[in-house]
Amino acid sequence: MNPDLDRLQAYPFERLARLKQGLSPAGDLSHIPLSIGEPKHPTPGFITEEVLAHLHGMATYPTTKGSLALREAIAGWLSQRFSLSAESLDPERNILPVSGTREGLFAIAQSVIDRHTPPLCVLPNPFYQIYEGASILAGATPYFVSADSRSGFIPDFESVGADVWRRCQLLYICTPGNPSGAVIPVETLQSLIELADRHDFVIASDECYSEIYADEERPPASLLQAAAQMGRAGYQRCVVFNSLSKRSNVPGLRSGFVAGDARIIQPFLLYRTYHGCTMPPPTQAASIAAWRDEQHVVENRRCYRQKFDAVLPILSPLLDVHCPEAGFYLWPKTPGDDQQFTKDLYVQQNVTVLPGSFLSREVGGANPGRGHVRMALVAPVEDCLEAARRMSTMLSG
Ligand SMILES: Cc1ncc(COP(=O)(O)O)c(C=O)c1O
Repeated sequence: MNPDLDRLQAYPFERLARLKQGLSPAGDLSHIPLSIGEPKHPTPGFITEEVLAHLHGMATYPTTKGSLALREAIAGWLSQRFSLSAESLDPERNILPVSGTREGLFAIAQSVIDRHTPPLCVLPNPFYQIYEGASILAGATPYFVSADSRSGFIPDFESVGADVWRRCQLLYICTPGNPSGAVIPVETLQSLIELADRHDFVIASDECYSEIYADEERPPASLLQAAAQMGRAGYQRCVVFNSLSKRSNVPGLRSGFVAGDARIIQPFLLYRTYHGCTMPPPTQAASIAAWRDEQHVVENRRCYRQKFDAVLPILSPLLDVHCPEAGFYLWPKTPGDDQQFTKDLYVQQNVTVLPGSFLSREVGGANPGRGHVRMALVAPVEDCLEAARRMSTMLSG
C-alpha cells in the first residue's frame, strides 16, 4: 500500500464520533446537529428541473473539459461578479469544470507538485482538511500558518520565513475562510501574488463561500480580482476554485470549477484526463442555469442573515462570538476546553458542534483552533434559535 496513506489524519467528523462515543444526551430533547457544513436550504426548483430535463444526456460520455456552454456560463459569471475583463477569461484555456471544489482542490496538488525536490505546501491553520491530504499524497510536506484572533483569523503570512517560501510549491488559501468566515483583503492577496512571483509557487484559492456574505455592499474579492487589479491579465500563478454547493444549495450536484492561469489549467486538463473526473451532462445543464441566475443567491444570503440576526443576540452576551463577514459558520471562543464544551453541550442539551481543535494542527505547542467550536447555521432558523437558547441555558447554568 502507499505508505503516505498512513500519514493521513482521521477526518474531523470521525474524531467527533469518537468523542461522542458512549455519551448519551439527558432528557428527551431532540438532536440539533450544527457540526456539518452541509447547506440545508431547499434547492431552487429551476435547477432540479434542468437536471430532469437533461437526463437523456446520460447516453453520452462527457468530456473532461465540459461543454463550451458551461465554460462560457462560468466565464460570464466570473467576469460579472469580480469585474474581470471578458477577454482575460478564455473559456478554452482558463476554465475547467470540477466535480465540486473538494475534488478539484485535492487534484490540483497532484498536478502542481514536483516531488523530485523536497516540496512544501503552505496551508492555513485551521483549514479545510483536504489541503493537508492533497499535499501529503502529492509528496509534499504541509507547512501550517496560524490563523487565530491575533491576525483577525487570517493566516499570519508575515510569520512565514523566506526559507519556507523558497521551498513552497503550492499555497492554499481559503477566502472567505472556513471556519472563521474571515475574508482576505485584496492588498494581502496582492502581496501573496508578489511572493509567488519571487519564489515561483502556485496559489490555489478556495473561494467556495464567496457568495454567502453578510453585507450586500461588500462582496468578498477573488484572487483573480486581486491579480487583475495588478494588471496581470493572464492571472499568472493564480487559480481559484468555486462551486454551486453553497451558493445554490446543491451540495449533491457536485458542480464547481477551477479558473485562472492557462499555464496551470492546461497541464491540469492533461492530469484530469487520467484522473477521470468528468461532469455528467445533466449536471452541466443545471449548472449553466444556476450560474446564470443571481436572484436565488440573494435570497439564500437573506436566509443566512436571518439566522445570524436571530442567534447572535442570544449568544453574544454569554460567549465571545461575532457575525462573520462571510460563510455560514459561527466560530465562538469556548469558556474552557473546546472538546469538553462539545461533550457537555451534547450531553446536557443534545446539540452537536465541532471542536475547533479537530480542524487544526498543533504547531510549536499551540493549536490555533483550540478553545473554539464551529457551529454551522445550516438548519432551519427555528432549529438554530432553539440551539442558541439551549446553549444559553447551559452557559447560564
Ligand atoms: C472550505 C471548503 N472548501 C471546499 C469545500 C467542498 O465543497 P464542494 O466540494 O461541495 O464544492 C468545503 C465544503 O464544506 C469547504 O468548507
